[in-house]
Amino acid sequence: MLYADLLIHSAQVMVTMKGHSGCPARGEGMSEIGLIEDGAVAIREGKIVAVGTTEEVLASGLVGPETRRIGAQGKVVSPGFVDPHTHVIYAGSRENELSLKLRGVPYLEILKQGGGILSTVRSTKQATDGEIKAQTSRRLQTMLSLGTTTVEVKSGYGLTLDEEMRALRLIKELNHEQVIDLVPTFMGAHAVPPGFSEEEFTDYIIEDMLPNVAAEGLAEFCDVFCEPGVFSVNSSERILSKAKQLNFKLKIHADELDPAGGAELAAKLSVTSADHLLQASDEGITALAKQGVIAVLLPATSFNLAKNSYARAREMISAGVPVALATDSNPGSSPTESMPLVLTLACLYLRLTPEEALTAATINAAHAIGRANEVGSLEVGKQGDVLILDIPNLNYLPYHFGNNPVGTVIKRGNVVWDSKIFDRQTT
Ligand code: NIG
Ligand code: FE
Repeated sequence: MLYADLLIHSAQVMVTMKGHSGCPARGEGMSEIGLIEDGAVAIREGKIVAVGTTEEVLASGLVGPETRRIGAQGKVVSPGFVDPHTHVIYAGSRENELSLKLRGVPYLEILKQGGGILSTVRSTKQATDGEIKAQTSRRLQTMLSLGTTTVEVKSGYGLTLDEEMRALRLIKELNHEQVIDLVPTFMGAHAVPPGFSEEEFTDYIIEDMLPNVAAEGLAEFCDVFCEPGVFSVNSSERILSKAKQLNFKLKIHADELDPAGGAELAAKLSVTSADHLLQASDEGITALAKQGVIAVLLPATSFNLAKNSYARAREMISAGVPVALATDSNPGSSPTESMPLVLTLACLYLRLTPEEALTAATINAAHAIGRANEVGSLEVGKQGDVLILDIPNLNYLPYHFGNNPVGTVIKRGNVVWDSKIFDRQTT
């Protein structure tokens, strides 16, 4: 008899997200989070083999004398967080732009002056592979400590064929070398570098970058910063259509700063996810719902750009758009690694309930990166990616903010981070 390697038992409440692996949760379905009181989950060889009440799992015959047991009395157990939108592969930082921001210089104005994304392009180009990897690993380790077990990572601080390919190769190496699973996205269309017109750079992406990235199999998704003054709806459509022909799955940064029809384009191309969407029109939201496009909302970016404007999440949920949440972790508009912070902001400013926010940060986020069969819920057959949260109930998660609620992180059945070990090291 092969017994489970690990049993987590006696959780005050366990969030399973059961039943949403086939389709992302939408509407009232976003509140159905498969709660089990006195919950338990057993894992063998990295995969979940039993889920239920502690009594049920103990009676399954899968728990034996050699099974390691972790009690979660008084705590909440949930699937690992999935962060489906980040830009974490880069070198350097941009704290120097804070004073410009506080003086009211707009984000796109800083970019136009050669700062912003273009500043990170320069610092990344100057860095060695080892430096980029070391800095990115540190960010990923912070994410892991905050409960994130799967992360989408976009290139886009290269903006030449060689530098974009370098970033994607480093993502591939990091995927093998550290704990978090990484899902790579090619985002050569992140900014137009000096010396190119928008049209010339769009041609370069279509003719040179996309075919090479596809030939080396370095990315699953292609993403575009569709924004007036960066890539127009027309350029975005050209790039994404070519990417589709080359079998990339599609994402789009849509309607972040100005309304431009990005959501409508997302629906027209049936992309997997449309992200940001602060300025999405009513027609755009209806079209996303109709096509089943996932809205990946990024409230930490709204918070950090300090414009007091957030995506219309409640209207999206009412319209039937499946909503996911992400950090948008990047050195400019969202320098954070924290999904717990995103959950708090989502409840306070997107007006999600804690249940909806957890759905958005786990199973819907997994759908947004094509991983819903592997992660995002605690169900038999799925990867053993589990969090033991040091909180007494779900409402506590968004309520007590700015701290790390994560007690233990389990990745593929292994304890990979524990707050108690960290406490001992620091005292
Ligand atoms: O999603 N919008 C474009 N890209 C990032 C920002 C990247 C940066 O400022 O470095 C975003 O917000
Ligand atoms: Fe982004």
